[in-house]
Amino acid sequence: MEVLKHDVLVLGAGLAGLRAALELMRASNGELDVGIISKVQLMRAHSVCAEGGTAAVLRPDEGDSFELHAWDTIKGSDFLADQDVVFRFVETMPEEIYLLEHWGLPWSRRPDGKIDQRKFGGHSFPRATYAADKTGFFEMQTLYDTLQRYADRITPYSEWFVTSLIIRDGKFLGLTGIDVSTGQFYLLVAKALIMATGGAGRLYAFTTYSHSATSDGLAMAYRAGIPLADMEFVQFHPSGLIPSGILITEGVRGEGGYLINNKGERFMERYAPQMMELAPRDIVSRAMITEIQEGRGFPGPGGLDYLYLDIRHLGADKINERLPLIREVCIKYAGIDPIEEPIPVRPVAHYTMGGIRTDINGKAYGTENVWAAGEVAAVSIHGANRLGTNSTAECLAYGKITGQEVVKYLKQEDRHLPDPPITEAEAEERRVMKGVLQMSGKENPYQIRAELRKIMGQYVGVFRDEQGLQTALSAIKDLQERYKNVRVEDKGLVYNTDLISVLELGFMLDVAEIIVKGAIERRESRGGHARTDYPNRDDENFLKHTLAYFTDQGPRLEYEPVRITHWKPVERKY
Ligand code: FUM
Repeated sequence: MEVLKHDVLVLGAGLAGLRAALELMRASNGELDVGIISKVQLMRAHSVCAEGGTAAVLRPDEGDSFELHAWDTIKGSDFLADQDVVFRFVETMPEEIYLLEHWGLPWSRRPDGKIDQRKFGGHSFPRATYAADKTGFFEMQTLYDTLQRYADRITPYSEWFVTSLIIRDGKFLGLTGIDVSTGQFYLLVAKALIMATGGAGRLYAFTTYSHSATSDGLAMAYRAGIPLADMEFVQFHPSGLIPSGILITEGVRGEGGYLINNKGERFMERYAPQMMELAPRDIVSRAMITEIQEGRGFPGPGGLDYLYLDIRHLGADKINERLPLIREVCIKYAGIDPIEEPIPVRPVAHYTMGGIRTDINGKAYGTENVWAAGEVAAVSIHGANRLGTNSTAECLAYGKITGQEVVKYLKQEDRHLPDPPITEAEAEERRVMKGVLQMSGKENPYQIRAELRKIMGQYVGVFRDEQGLQTALSAIKDLQERYKNVRVEDKGLVYNTDLISVLELGFMLDVAEIIVKGAIERRESRGGHARTDYPNRDDENFLKHTLAYFTDQGPRLEYEPVRITHWKPVERKY
């Protein structure tokens, strides 16, 4: 088997991965040899879909502060965030905004020429720094362009599918992957690894995520012995466009858009009288589903009943200037022009609050040389519910922090490349190329995937209860059994997306089980986890993180206290 070697590997090339790679270069003065691996073309990572903005305190002179950003984030998290981490995050962010500006990012501006910031849900100050409604695209492009300064030190592995991490006694030795364009199987070895593979949103059918977000990195880390934390907390964004699920940015509400039901009421008055449509997402999404369940929605296709998001009153000029992508998406994918008609929306799977459990420096639990940044990580900024614009911000802040930490680790002593773990890599090659690729069972993997998504949407959505979650768990176990008997139709090597889909499905089934198990055991309601049978938050028993460890029998759950360094939990009112 061919072995490829680098000082550091970055797995995932979204915002967190690119920012981490850039920091590895900056902090090492361009000395490191870095491999960046992505299952899609480098600039096609899901981060390009981020729309509304990036949170940062830029206006202390106008009333914003680190303390206020931290408070909003912690209250938004339903007090499950680790508070020391939140402070580190908010304090890191302003410099990131200015760095991106210096690297060429065209932030939207105020009339006085200063960088503009808009309102966003759960933030008590307008601190969403934005580039129209294409913020993620411009951030990615800026980082990618800047990274070209170090092109001779960086090896991109575009369209490579990684199948496993090899970690022995807590030490990362390498990872195995397929060059999808040829089907050749490789072992890549490095002194350190940064995981930046994003979330698990494709576990749901109605989702804002790109097709690539199939939870591979989460499952790989879990299978390699790293615990995943707080996976039961899945975020449903209030405004997924009917019928595709494409994100209609919260920036729409930040600019003054509002939600109405079939009676023409701005129903958020009943649920969050002060912040209304700009309450945190968990609250707005619950309000919307309640309206729909109580018969105040509009009938939609395939059971996707919806409500209206109205921006007509903003006027054509503002819509064209601030929300051009939203207008284009509505015209192309819903056949309506939001200048003239309200937008049909409903809550949609949007974010994975849980992830690879890390310490405050982004280092994965139980490892010596693995870091995680961005959505794949649970450093725990977001706890039980993330505020909008804190995600792109986390990618930047923790991309930077993990990049710096890796450079520090490499400088501490003379680190050598590990001996290639050939035995483990060959076993993995056999599993994939002789095992999975040759499977010819009677089960259709796409049918299993569709059933999995249906189950997750039906029982593990905005509202959950014991009975539904138990039904989901046994259905997932059943699908796991059926998965052992799938068939891979395409036995070829070149661009075998059939094989990749089957490997992804295996990862998704693992992660779905972890989400559901965690949700069953968390018998309370907190943030994005709303149990109708346990409607209240229960700090006495559940002010703690869930940790899921791999075993052959399924996830073993442990718990860990939340780090409360500043504010004790209080009731959330908006
Ligand atoms: O609504 C949005 O633009 C999404 C932002 C986010 O998830 O942070």
